[in-house]
Amino acid sequence: MSEKIIKSADRVKDIGEVFTPKKTVDFMLDQPEIKAKVNSLTATFLEPSAGEGAFLVELLRRKLVYAKKASKSIAEMQNNFLLALSTLYGIELMEDNVEMLVMNMNNVFRDTYFKAFNPKERNNKILKSAQTIISANMAQGDALTKKTSTGADIVFSEWKSIGKDKVQRTEYSFAAIAKGETASGTVRPHYEQLSLLEPSPDQTESKPLEKHYKLVKWEDIYKQITE
Ligand SMILES: C[S@@+](CC[C@H](N)C(=O)[O-])C[C@H]1O[C@@H](n2cnc3c(N)ncnc32)[C@H](O)[C@@H]1O
Repeated sequence: MSEKIIKSADRVKDIGEVFTPKKTVDFMLDQPEIKAKVNSLTATFLEPSAGEGAFLVELLRRKLVYAKKASKSIAEMQNNFLLALSTLYGIELMEDNVEMLVMNMNNVFRDTYFKAFNPKERNNKILKSAQTIISANMAQGDALTKKTSTGADIVFSEWKSIGKDKVQRTEYSFAAIAKGETASGTVRPHYEQLSLLEPSPDQTESKPLEKHYKLVKWEDIYKQITE
C-alpha cells in the first residue's frame, strides 16, 4: 500500500503539511548520533511539528526494542517500557493530526506490549499509564507561540525515575522549559540536546508553571494524584 504524504494541496500551502515517508524516517533515525540516543532509556526527543507521528512512532518502536533488551526481569521490563515512552514528546498544530498522533502512539505501545508479555505477565495498569503519558506528552499547540488553540500555555511533564520502580512527575510550561526556567533544570538540557527540529527562539513572556504529582510506581501514573 502506498503511503499518504499529503492530505490536501491547501494544507500543504497553509501549514506546510507533508508527512515524511517511512524510508526517510528510517534513514534519519539510523544516523549514529540518533541511534545512540535511541539506545538509551532516558534520552529525550521533542518533535515540535509532529504531524501524525512519523518520527515519534518509529522512535517509540525502536526505544521499546531497546527497553526489552536492557531489562533483566519482567517487572523491570514493564517499568522500562513506560520509562522509554515517557522520553518522547511532540507538539502539533492541527487537532486532527494530534488525534492520529495519540492513536498511533497508543497502538504501537499496545501492540508491542502484547507481543512482549504473555497473558499471565500482562498488567492493565501499564497500558492505562501509557495512555496517560501519551496524552501528557503529545501536545496540541503552536510550537512558535508555545500556546494551545485556546491560548493556554503548552504544558509538558518531566518524568523522573526514582529508585527501582517509582516516578516523579512535574509539569512545566513549554515556554519555561525553552527558557531554562524550570526548577529541576533537567528538562532543558535534554530538550536542547535532542530535539529533532528545534523551534526558533521567540520573545514569549510566560510565567513558569509547575505542578507536582505524588511520587508513585510507574504502573500507577494513570491515577494522576497531585501533591
Ligand atoms: C512537514 S509536516 C511534518 C510532519 C511530521 N513531522 C512528519 O515528518 O511526518 C509539518 C507539520 O507541522 C505542523 N505545524 C505547522 N506549523 C506548526 C506550528 N507552528 N506548531 C506546531 N506544528 C505546526 C503541521 O500541521 C504539520 O503536521
